[in-house]
Parts: sequence; structure tokens; C-alpha cells
Amino acid sequence: MPLVDVAVIGAGAAGLFCAGAAGQRGLKVLLIDHAPKVAEKIRISGGGRSNFTNRECTPANYLSENPHFCRSALSQYTSADFIALMHKHGVPFHEKHKGQLFCDHSSQQLIDVLLAECALGGVERWQPCGVKAVRALTAEDQATAPRYDIETDRGPVQARHVVVATGGLSIPKIGATDFGHRLAQQFGHRIVPLKPALVPLTFDVSQWARWVPLAGVAVPVRIAVDAPAQGKGGGKHGGKAKTQHISFDEDLLFTHRGLSGPGVLQISSFWQPDTPLHIDLAPGTELASAMKQAKSGNRKQLGNAWKDTLPVHIPQRLAQAWLDATREQVPTLRDDQPVAEARDKDLEALGQAFNGWQITPHGTEGYAKAEVTAGGVDTNELSSRTMESKRSPGLYFIGEVVDVTGWLGGYNFQWAWSSGMACARAM
Ligand code: FDA
Repeated sequence: MPLVDVAVIGAGAAGLFCAGAAGQRGLKVLLIDHAPKVAEKIRISGGGRSNFTNRECTPANYLSENPHFCRSALSQYTSADFIALMHKHGVPFHEKHKGQLFCDHSSQQLIDVLLAECALGGVERWQPCGVKAVRALTAEDQATAPRYDIETDRGPVQARHVVVATGGLSIPKIGATDFGHRLAQQFGHRIVPLKPALVPLTFDVSQWARWVPLAGVAVPVRIAVDAPAQGKGGGKHGGKAKTQHISFDEDLLFTHRGLSGPGVLQISSFWQPDTPLHIDLAPGTELASAMKQAKSGNRKQLGNAWKDTLPVHIPQRLAQAWLDATREQVPTLRDDQPVAEARDKDLEALGQAFNGWQITPHGTEGYAKAEVTAGGVDTNELSSRTMESKRSPGLYFIGEVVDVTGWLGGYNFQWAWSSGMACARAM
């Protein structure tokens, strides 16, 4: 039976990176993945160009029941370290927005870096190869033998260390499974409830019908929710749950079924069912006062003129939709009325509708469209320095399978690199 120092299950971002780093430390590493193609999720990431890290990565950019857990790994291997690796391999990249770094040409460049690092570490890869079971040897066996027996489609393997890097549930059609979560439970770990995150939000068909014609329109907004405070139980003390007001200034995109775009994806990770989104479609401008100021002597028709008071360009379709929606509440508001003749009260209603749009999603697009899975292996039962299980020595969990979920913007890959390296250095 083959015997290795390390068996890594899952050849995605975290598994490839950890395997290469462990191999380069002189360990004999076997990397196993059931999917026919390597790192498909990396390939489709960042619109095909992989947003591989973020220059400004801090623990505040992550969600977890224990918001401090990610601190140690992120400080052991930083975004600057990964940027240096990209330089070492001569991969050209650029910053798009808010510290987000993307490959200049394609995600394949990032995959090639990870495969080259694995080659440097002499990593053996079995792919496609399913893992059927993992069994810990008894304490008696462990004194003289490796710690784990692994049953795979290519036969049994023994390993001193097993690293679980099987990711989350998002995009099942390219190989996502709950194998890592089930394995964690088998070894007595708790799973923090899973949910799709960084995901478009959907609405009731009838509720959404009026906005369907806006599909394809994008607009910069401030989008916010009131969510349970981070930490176990949403910060419940003495029966009172603390809430936090979370907001992002990013683009929103109307779709046929609801809302998407970076702002919505960000807020979706915090959104709780049956609670409203608060959307300011003109962040930084109090529209009602701006319109009242613009009244004096203004003979332009309200329908054409009101959006001129906004500091950013608003597509005509969106402006008209808001006027129509507000007019249902305020019949005295008329498109053909000169701005100078509009009643202050009506302008205030229009301004309020635009600055303070509230709408309650019906649900999300689910794992089929989610970029990540929030929740996962409970961090209280893992070492934050090494990612090793506190229940089963020699067993490690890294990447998205752990209850650490990054914001949109390269933070999830950085967690894969940082947690993978913390584990590799500990074995
Ligand atoms: P990952 O999912 O990468 O790998 C898990 C591996 O385990 C897979 O290869 C799978 O086949 C394998 N596996 C699963 N079950 C198995 C089993 N039973 N046996 C054997 N193998 C098994 N993040 C970011 O920072 N920047 C970005 O630009 C993007 N963009 C993006 C776009 C889209 C469309 C998605 C879906 C996701 C992103 N992400 C992202 C998120 C990012 O891709 C994700 O967080 C990381 O890939 C997680 O890395 P892991 O290695 O943990 O899992």
C-alpha cells in the first residue's frame, strides 16, 4: 500500500497551494481530486482572469462565527507574499478596483503557477480519483505506523497527515461536494450552518415584474442591511441579539429575476431572509434638497430634468421607472410639469424613494450561482496557527470548507493561500 507523509484531498486553490508548499519542505505529498480537470473554479474565477488577492487584506474582510480565527494565518502568509510569488513566476497582473488584483491575460496563468509550485515540491496528483473513506488508525497502530488509511478509486493509501481542501458547495456542476463537511462530522467536528454567499438576490415574480424592463442596467449605489453582529449566536448577550449595520458602496445590476452586481453580492453574505435591503441610488447626494434648490426659474419638464440634479449619470430607463413608481404614491407628481412648479412635498417623495429604496428579497440564486459558501467547519475545533483538528491530530482543514468566508475582491483566494501555507508549515 502506498505510504505518504501528506494526503491532500481537493486540488483547488487551497489544496494545490498547500501541496506545493508541503512538498517543497521535503514531505512526500499525494494530491487527490475527483474532478476530471484541475482547478476548474480558479479557471472561471474573476471573469476568467482570477482576482487572486487583495492588496488591503485584513481580518475585517472575513465573516466567521469567530472573526479572530483568520488573523494568525493571514499574518503568516500575506497578500504581499502571494504578490511576490506571482512576480517570481513572471505573471503580469493589474489592480482593477479597491486593491483587487487580476491576472492580465487569463486564470490559466494562476493555475500554471500553482502547478509549477507542485512540480517543484515533487507532488504526485491522482485526478480524477474519488475518495471513498478516511479512517484514523487506532492509537496502538499510530505508535509505529501512519495515522490515516484512505480508500480511493485507485486503491488504498496511508498518510501521516490528511489535509481536507474540498471547498464549499458552490457550483456543483464543476465538482463541489459536501465531502469535507461530512468528513469533519465523522471526526466529531461541528459544522456552522452553510448558506450560499456572494450570490445574486431574487424576488417574487409579481413583486419584481415592474423592474424586469431594467434588466442589464447597472448603477453605483450604497447598499445596506441590518445583520446579526459577527460572533457566535450573533452576539447574543442576556437574550438580546446585537445587530450591525453593514453597507457597501458598489455597483448594483438589475437582472430578470432580481438584483446582482458587486454591491448585491457583497451584501448577500450578510443578508438574512425576510429582512429588507436599504438602497441609496444616489449615495452622497440628498436628492430632495438638490431638486428643491434646482427649482428656481427652471422651466424644464420634471421628467427630463430631475436626474440632472444627480452627480452621476443615471440611465433614462431607471430615472423613468422611479418617476413612475413614485407617481403611484404621489399622483400630483407629473413628468410634464416644469420643475419650478413641482410641489416641495412631491420632490421630497421622489428624493426619498431614490435615496431610501427599501425592498425585501424572496431568496437567493442558490449554490448554482453563489461564488462561495458561508459557514463550514467550526473554527473553535481547529488550531488557528496550523489549521489542525483539535479532535484528531494529523487532520487539517483549509480553504473554503472552514467557517471563514471572504468578501468579494480576492479575499477568498487569499484565505486559500494563507490557510494552506499555515498548514503546510506545520506538518
Ligand atoms: P475549491 O473549490 O477551489 O477546490 C475544492 C476542490 O475539491 C475541487 O477541485 C473539487 O473538485 C475537490 N473536491 C470536492 N469534493 C471532493 C471529493 N469528494 N473528493 C475529491 N475531491 C473533491 N475568489 C476570489 O478570491 N477571487 C475571485 O475572483 C473569485 N471568483 C470566483 C468566481 C466564481 C464563479 C466562483 C464560483 C468562485 C469565485 N471565488 C473567487 C471563490 C474561490 O474560487 C473559492 O473561494 C476558492 O476556490 C476556494 O478554494 P478551495 O481550495 O477551498 O476550494
